[in-house]
Amino acid sequence: MAQTDTTDRGNWNSRIGFVLAAAGSAVGLGNIWRFPTEVASNGGGAFLLIYLICCFAIGFPVMVAELSIGRKTERNPVGAFKALSSNKFYPLIGFWGVLCGVMILSFYTVVAGWTFSYVFEEIFFFAGLDSWATYFAEVSNGVKNGIFSTIFMGATVSIILGGVSDGIERATKFMMPVLIGILMIMIGYVAFQPGAATGFAEYLKPDFSQISAPLIFSAMGQAFFSLSLGMGALITYGSYLSKKENVPEAAAFVTLADVGIAFLAGLLIMPAMYMAESFGVNIFSESGELLASSDLIFQVLPALFHSLNTTAGIIFGVSFFLLLSMAALTSTISLLEVPTSYVIDEYNVKRKKAAITIGAGILIISLIISFDISLIGSIDFIFSKVGLPLGGFLICYFLGYVWTVKNALEELEHGYPGLDSSIFKAVWPIFIKFLAPLAILYNLLEAIGFISYIEQLF
Ligand code: TRP
Repeated sequence: MAQTDTTDRGNWNSRIGFVLAAAGSAVGLGNIWRFPTEVASNGGGAFLLIYLICCFAIGFPVMVAELSIGRKTERNPVGAFKALSSNKFYPLIGFWGVLCGVMILSFYTVVAGWTFSYVFEEIFFFAGLDSWATYFAEVSNGVKNGIFSTIFMGATVSIILGGVSDGIERATKFMMPVLIGILMIMIGYVAFQPGAATGFAEYLKPDFSQISAPLIFSAMGQAFFSLSLGMGALITYGSYLSKKENVPEAAAFVTLADVGIAFLAGLLIMPAMYMAESFGVNIFSESGELLASSDLIFQVLPALFHSLNTTAGIIFGVSFFLLLSMAALTSTISLLEVPTSYVIDEYNVKRKKAAITIGAGILIISLIISFDISLIGSIDFIFSKVGLPLGGFLICYFLGYVWTVKNALEELEHGYPGLDSSIFKAVWPIFIKFLAPLAILYNLLEAIGFISYIEQLF
């Protein structure tokens, strides 16, 4: 059922293509770099538990909301809100989303650049060229970061130029299974190494006393980030979706795939940290907490690979970082697609011009971050930890009280003939109108209280 694009908007060619592209957007550095870091800094199992609750109780309903708004309007996030209401305020939700996407992408390319440069670190390490290996391992080397971010942005733009089905869909189709395969093999290997048991226990045994407002806030932010929610990426992906698609089912699949891969990444990284410790890598901070700096996985994983013999080390080290780079690429694509589709739809610009100009603009911010990676923490805080849940809250509010659940359910009925008598129909509206927005709001307010508490300390 191939379709030819008559406009610059485009459509997904196949059902599996959409699901994989949305899963590709979800699965990325968020799962393998950010999630284990959050787990480690929030005491392991307790975080995992709250994270899972956030994904299913908040993330999944919001994902269905974004996809239904997108498919109904066939527009970018700004245009979608314009199409569904005449009030001038609501398109601002879309603007906020576009801004969050731009800012997230600007640091994401820097981190993605690290993953790609670690491919070379591994090659040079096993080739015995230690000084080269060290060069590629330096996360605070501005020039090197700049070069790799530029490569990454170039790759992202070139896929976006290919358009929806030929570019995005084709690129994501084969990478995911390979990534999962390699994760599993590595988990199998690490599981039997010294220290692994402690890692598993820390990860899987929730210590309920650790559950606190900041932990819940982090878990919620992580759920939004990892599922690519709150900024309209899935409004955009939904806008290319056929009416034949069963949206809740597709969303369930994407959520499960993303959560599954994050869970697997934790099963790898937590034991690997303790394994690295048994090799003499320091994994605790001075105050005795697990190290969770943003370069955590860039210390622990290489230590793991370096412990292998040359052949295994080359195979696993290189392919792991290569696959992680590809997973990051399927995510940067979705981040850049949002502002691109906005400019294409609203200003009638050609896809090529839109993608190149916006990509170049965001690259300028990435280059600044390349030279001062401490900026990542604050940008991440404002635009993902706060920005995405805020966007999610506004989307719930808009769907529940402006566009209305009734209209959304009518849209969802396309491709889901059994909707009327489903549990989904009974439960989803409650989550979208009450539970999800209230939980988000409560957490955001709590976080602001937490900030002022911190301020008082100084
Ligand atoms: N979900 C991706 C990850 O886990 C990151 C990402 C891609 C994203 N597109 C997004 C985050 C849109 C928020 C919004 O790595």
